[in-house]
Amino acid sequence: MRHLIVPSVDTQHWFEIVKSNGWAQEGYGILTTDDGLKAIPLNGSAPADNHSVWQNTAHRIILRSKEIAKHWTDLIDQKLLLEIKEFLPRSHELIGDILVVKLEDEIFAHREIIADAMLEKLPNVRLVCADKGVTGKFRVRDLLPIKSRQGDSATLTKVKEHGQVILIDPTKSYFSARLSTERQGSYTAAKQLFNRLGRAITVCDPYAGVGPAMAGLLTKTGLVDKALIGDLNPSAVELLQQNIANFLSKNTQPAEVEILCQDGRKWRERAEFNHKVDLLLVNLPHQMLTHISDLLPLMRRHSPSLIRGWAIVEKTEMQNINDQLTKLFADNGAINHNLTCSEVKGFSSSKSFVRVESWQEFQ
Ligand SMILES: C[S@@+](CC[C@H](N)C(=O)[O-])C[C@H]1O[C@@H](n2cnc3c(N)ncnc32)[C@H](O)[C@@H]1O
Repeated sequence: MRHLIVPSVDTQHWFEIVKSNGWAQEGYGILTTDDGLKAIPLNGSAPADNHSVWQNTAHRIILRSKEIAKHWTDLIDQKLLLEIKEFLPRSHELIGDILVVKLEDEIFAHREIIADAMLEKLPNVRLVCADKGVTGKFRVRDLLPIKSRQGDSATLTKVKEHGQVILIDPTKSYFSARLSTERQGSYTAAKQLFNRLGRAITVCDPYAGVGPAMAGLLTKTGLVDKALIGDLNPSAVELLQQNIANFLSKNTQPAEVEILCQDGRKWRERAEFNHKVDLLLVNLPHQMLTHISDLLPLMRRHSPSLIRGWAIVEKTEMQNINDQLTKLFADNGAINHNLTCSEVKGFSSSKSFVRVESWQEFQ
């Protein structure tokens, strides 16, 4: 890379000329050479070495390694970095090849510079989007594309989970990569139930989104015989159908699958779905406690069964919720009941995101 070589005392003077004309190579700092001079990195638009603007100041080619930039912030102009440092995003979320970043108002104007630095430093990222929160009744992401590689700003992407590729579009359907451990837990619990029953199990995931919880369950040969899967969001169901078809294609004994775009509480209205389910997943954290009683008719009778649900609850209410659910299940004929309510993570200062796991036998 070409550098302008100046005496230390003149660095500020020359740097301002270089910078104000847009000739500074972004992302690389000023070096001190072995002979104690300063080397200002120049970009391709800087005039040739013999141009009069340089007033015969020397130029030198110095190899600069990209590895100098250890973090994407190293690629931002250092003067600007000082101004905006305290507002820079401290964390970001990678969804497939989309990087979702929360940008404070103070740095929104610099979003393209920030996104450029992220794209340069993070080769797996195709698109950088500003996170504008969740929106609508299906809680999908409001994402503002800022910069992309080769102009590809599509929000459709793929994540790999449980060894399977899952198609997702966070602007069309809810998806949280952070909950993959919970999905792994459902897979492990499903195998426990399979071992206990000594037969393939029937699963129901009425709030499936694009179907990530099914990646493990439907690809494991012999584990699941039937699956009742759905979501109320039609855009989620479009991707769900594609993902499920892909999972089933990996299985030599594919499960029989019913996919419906409907309210989870409506599965019970079809007699053929009643008393059929061995494993029920209730992933509707804001409403789980109000939906659960409409789902219990789906559970198989006279056989051990498992329900795994997720809810957002007041921290002080955990014991109450445990008691309420225990009573609800008993009223619905549950015996040999073992219900646990465990915190997965904090949700706010007063609320927790909890997992409810309930083993029972309905009579
Ligand atoms: C928290 S997300 C869970 C998605 C998925 N299970 C996952 O792990 O990524 C809840 C899903 O329920 C869907 N949903 C919301 N209300 C619903 C309802 N009444 N009946 C069925 N699905 C509903 C939303 O569209 C969303 O996809």
